[in-house]
Amino acid sequence: MPTQYILALDQGTTSSRAILFDQRGQVVAQAQKEFTQLFPQPGWVEHDPVEIWSTQAGVAAEATVKAGVNGKSLAAIGITNQRETAVVWHRGTGKPVYNAIVWQDRRTAQYCDELRAAGHEELIRQKTGLVLDAYFSASKVRWILDHVPGARAQAEAGELAFGTVDSWLIWNLTQGELHVTDVTNASRTMLLNIHTLQWDAELLALFDIPASMLPQVRPSSEVYGHTKTTIFASKVPLAGIAGDQQAALFGQLCTRPGMVKNTYGTGCFMLLNIGSEPKPSRNNLLTTVAWQIDGQVQYALEGSIFMAGAVVQWLRDNLGIIKTAAEVEILARQVSSSGGVYFVPAFAGLGAPYWDPYARGTIFGMSRATTAAHLARAAVEAIAYQTMDVLRAMQADSGLPIAELRVDGGAAANDLLMQFQADVLQSRVTRPRNTETTALGAAYLAGLAVGYWQNVAELQALEQADTTFNPQVDQGSIAVGIAQWQRAVRALQAWSQ
Ligand code: G3P
Repeated sequence: MPTQYILALDQGTTSSRAILFDQRGQVVAQAQKEFTQLFPQPGWVEHDPVEIWSTQAGVAAEATVKAGVNGKSLAAIGITNQRETAVVWHRGTGKPVYNAIVWQDRRTAQYCDELRAAGHEELIRQKTGLVLDAYFSASKVRWILDHVPGARAQAEAGELAFGTVDSWLIWNLTQGELHVTDVTNASRTMLLNIHTLQWDAELLALFDIPASMLPQVRPSSEVYGHTKTTIFASKVPLAGIAGDQQAALFGQLCTRPGMVKNTYGTGCFMLLNIGSEPKPSRNNLLTTVAWQIDGQVQYALEGSIFMAGAVVQWLRDNLGIIKTAAEVEILARQVSSSGGVYFVPAFAGLGAPYWDPYARGTIFGMSRATTAAHLARAAVEAIAYQTMDVLRAMQADSGLPIAELRVDGGAAANDLLMQFQADVLQSRVTRPRNTETTALGAAYLAGLAVGYWQNVAELQALEQADTTFNPQVDQGSIAVGIAQWQRAVRALQAWSQ
């Protein structure tokens, strides 16, 4: 038998990626392709589902060719994906009836306000663990049924299928044989009861979505079926599915309650493992399914920050004070502090734990002595302060002691940011050597299902020596900065009202 690998398909918001892992969890080959972002109107964001599939199939083929392997060398495929994005297609033809409505799309915000005004918020929170917001899939599916000519009648006749991106990929990988999703993706639709892990009839009625459209909900790690496409020449088991943030939590091996990871991408997504009970948040966080493996379900609290790496892009593209994102660290290191400058980058409102859609970016405390370096430093510090706000909310909600923050994503490479993060949190920040934690998590889930790896203990043994950042200043010296940050956020919120 040829050497076996696990193929992870990572279908993200801006690109489709495929990464081949070996038994040591090392990357053997990878391929990536960006795809078109469609903005038909202000606040609307769409993807072409056919392009999602074609880029994903293309990079899967490319990665296996690069590694010089074929389907016989693939022990299993794991899938991870941008979450909440909704695709509706025709079961007979396999053709989408409309573009995928992306998680960032705000077209249903007003409808969500109407649901809130009608008093449905608490029911939704209790059943789904989610904040009533256009972010999640349910209002997007309803929009498609209400606006695409003939869609509602076809849906009621059982002719249409809905899925998040994982379902859409598996449908195509199996040429329409499987219409499934996993519990993590299902928990982001606003249609799943996270206590029973079943689609909820009351929510389906509220959003007016026929149950016949929905995929079957399955665990995150099991053999769902086999590929039928010609990409791999032979049939490969499809054995793991998780939404990308949950996959990163698993890839970071945050498998015990109290373990938390933060992904520093365009925004930040922080997830805290809270164990087997779906505890509700009292601090405006989401309760979501972390995974279901071997019949065991674990839950997570999640906080999303809208602007993290995007702040650095703004310094680069809008202010032009750096040429590349990586230069922000060099510029910020030219000064030993932000010189009293506080930058609240609420360009798209404030996410968790504030949820203020009307807040806007503001820079406080500038003087004649303020330089580009101070601004860069204030921007880096803002990423860490926002992360601190979410982690504090998580601590308050969960009552769990949090000893360490595991980090990944592009901006986690910034040592200055990571050190400042450790200082403001007064806890350890740990960066794995392999920062491909999202794809790795999907590979782990698939590998466990087919016995490529036996158990979590075996995965823990694969963990690579990490870079650890310990607090270098005491709580007293960081307290002033934290107090000033909080004043800045309060001032900003007062202004936005
Ligand atoms: O909830 C949205 C999230 O899953 C998107 O992740 O990495 O594709 O931006 P990403």
